[in-house]
Amino acid sequence: MSSGRLSADKVTTVRVVGKKQKGERIVCLTAYDYPTARLLAAAGVDVILVGDSAANVFYGHATTLAIGMEEMVYHTRAVAAGAQPALVVADMPFMSYQVSVEAAVENAGRLLKAGAEAVKLEGAGPVLDAVRRLVEVGIPVMGHLGLTPQSVHRLGGYRLQARRAEDQQRLLEDAQRLQDAGCFALVLEKVPAEPAARVTKALRIPTIGIGAGPGCDGQVLVLHDMLGLFEGPAFKFVKRYAELGEDIRRAVGQYCADVRAGRFPADEHTFHADAGGQ
Ligand code: KIV
Repeated sequence: MSSGRLSADKVTTVRVVGKKQKGERIVCLTAYDYPTARLLAAAGVDVILVGDSAANVFYGHATTLAIGMEEMVYHTRAVAAGAQPALVVADMPFMSYQVSVEAAVENAGRLLKAGAEAVKLEGAGPVLDAVRRLVEVGIPVMGHLGLTPQSVHRLGGYRLQARRAEDQQRLLEDAQRLQDAGCFALVLEKVPAEPAARVTKALRIPTIGIGAGPGCDGQVLVLHDMLGLFEGPAFKFVKRYAELGEDIRRAVGQYCADVRAGRFPADEHTFHADAGGQ
């Protein structure tokens, strides 16, 4: 039997933790399909997150609650096929880890069988047992605190979290509990820069911020937001690196006009019977 081998440049969870120790920032973006995963990996992204934000930007739902295990397994399989050498982290969808530790292990196992190399889940207190068990059976876990979109109905919207001193203290304690339970990294979403920097300083494991300021060990964005694939103003914490939505609309509009005017296909796009070729 031949032994398995990882490529020399493979990003592993151990390397992600090592980046914090070396003071190297960690780059993370979301992807939901194979061609996008290939592009992100080729551009040098360290961690590709198969986010349950697919519920919003892929399926058009208002919240992430609607996406389930079947969809997450499907997207994870597609991303994993194109993501190497980046680390593939798959989100555990709403209610795939909260009902019981056994269900959490079974569902995380399905995501790893589909090609994920770690899973991410939201919250602290009620999910700590699941985190401990997942790590125990060999499944790396990324935590997620601050704005946790799966709790949108309890939080009353997508507001900035950890504004008051007592909430900032709870954030720090929850982060330490997740680290102690065995998480290898922690996403901090939509919290002020100051408490995020304090949590980052207090932890051995890296923090990956989204709307959590520059003091985190890494950054993550939803790809569709940073590429301008959605119309309308972006969130304050999103930097738009492209306007692909506009580019696509312009290109498709041009195609519509060309077809209707008979300009496409032109001769260079047309086969002729006497030319015999390609
Ligand atoms: O689902 C997702 O894309 C996420 C990021 C916003 C961190 O969890």
